[in-house]
Amino acid sequence: MYFELTEEQKMIRQAARDFAQNELKPGVIERDEHQKFPAEQVKMLGELGFLGMMVSPQYGGSGMDAISYVLAMEELSKVDASASVVVSVNNSLVCYGLEKYGNDFQKEKYLVPLAKGEKLGAFCLSEPEAGSDATSQKTTAIDMGDHYLLNGVKNWITNGSTASTYLVIAQTHPEKRHHGINALIVERGMPGFEVGAKENKMGIRGSDTHSLMFTDVKVPKENRIGEDGYGFKFAMATLEGGRIGIAAQALGIAAGAYELALNYAKERKAFGKTIADLQATQFKLADMATEIEAARLLCLKAAWLKDKGLPYAQASSMAKLYASEVAMRTTVEAVQIHGGYGFVKEYHVERLMRDAKITQIYEGTSEIQRIVISREVLK
Ligand code: CAA
Ligand code: FAD
Repeated sequence: MYFELTEEQKMIRQAARDFAQNELKPGVIERDEHQKFPAEQVKMLGELGFLGMMVSPQYGGSGMDAISYVLAMEELSKVDASASVVVSVNNSLVCYGLEKYGNDFQKEKYLVPLAKGEKLGAFCLSEPEAGSDATSQKTTAIDMGDHYLLNGVKNWITNGSTASTYLVIAQTHPEKRHHGINALIVERGMPGFEVGAKENKMGIRGSDTHSLMFTDVKVPKENRIGEDGYGFKFAMATLEGGRIGIAAQALGIAAGAYELALNYAKERKAFGKTIADLQATQFKLADMATEIEAARLLCLKAAWLKDKGLPYAQASSMAKLYASEVAMRTTVEAVQIHGGYGFVKEYHVERLMRDAKITQIYEGTSEIQRIVISREVLK
């Protein structure tokens, strides 16, 4: 057992920390208020290699390990979870899905610009009537010989209006149930593809969440990922890595709120001393620090297993389940430690509390993580 980070991993963490403080923090309250997508910041993240972190340099990526990815996600999410979800989706759902399961043509055409940050990707599994119950896909991809005819609606798609490349899950052979599902690469601008209105959300308000409508969209056969009927397994296997990203996002939200609460407690005076001198505050900080460290270790363990090529489905679900619950508890306590100041926007913790909630919902709710974990432990 070796807990020391490499020099490269420490450098990546520092680069992400500097970026978060210098580039994300200045406008984060305003972007949240006005639901403004962090377009300039995302462009810079692409130029710095944060959008294709784990993609091999052969395909325009930075060739880093999953541990570095967790470290970067934590630092970015301490400050701006709306920006970090872009990093998470592009890296661990779209780029990873294409690099691991795409063919050479798909990697050259689609992965390279995504990994370089020249284009953004979106992962489209959820539908109005298929969220947790993801096998109930209503979107259809009818086999027309040289192309698929795509019809249906996807819901809640992150990077919905900013992406250029969409990985869309759809049913081709309903009689085969989940074995009849395909994953297709759909380009923005294909005739019949429309982006719906932006969702007005409680948290991650800067992120770009839309429904997508497909009406007789012709998707070339060469855009199918994997064999006919592999789409559901593709989605599930890709989500295993995605959940490490969201776990690290939750960890970062918790750690960001904790750091703010710690500093505030050392400054705020009540009854002739700082509130950090009160044992009630000290115990809150002790619990927060302990839970955050446990969440961090779960995230790093899942990433380590992935880097080693070992099974990591259970570890990534455990990391996501635990880190997201810690994010919720920690941010609520961080607001409490700030008192009334915690309830207003300029102190940042109220935003972190709103942002924390989504980590218990997307990429599989906490209940779904418990299903995945219990199935593994009962195997
Ligand atoms: N890897 C490969 N295959 C897998 C797999 C994995 N990790 N997990 C399941 N499968 C396969 C199973 O082996 C099975 O195939 P076979 O019949 O050939 O064995 C098939 O998938 C169906 O599996 P289940 O029988 O377990 O299916 P289920 O209906 O019981 O559901 C579930 C399983 C875990 C609940 C799944 O539906 C699920 O994960 N739901 C949550 C969906 C989700 O996470 N959505 C996230 C959308 S993306 C997003 O949210 C992005 C964002 O926010 C930023
Ligand atoms: P439901 O599945 O209807 O769940 C409702 C409640 O029932 C939940 O508490 C759930 O845990 C519980 N429940 C359901 N089934 C069970 C069960 N078997 N046992 C116990 N409890 C159960 N999806 C994408 O494909 N791509 C994206 O980019 C994306 N981004 C998102 C961004 C945001 C901001 C949001 C809000 C969602 C996003 N999603 C995305 C969708 C997200 O993954 C789903 O919202 C999530 O999987 C839950 O599905 P649902 O909303 O349909 O809830």
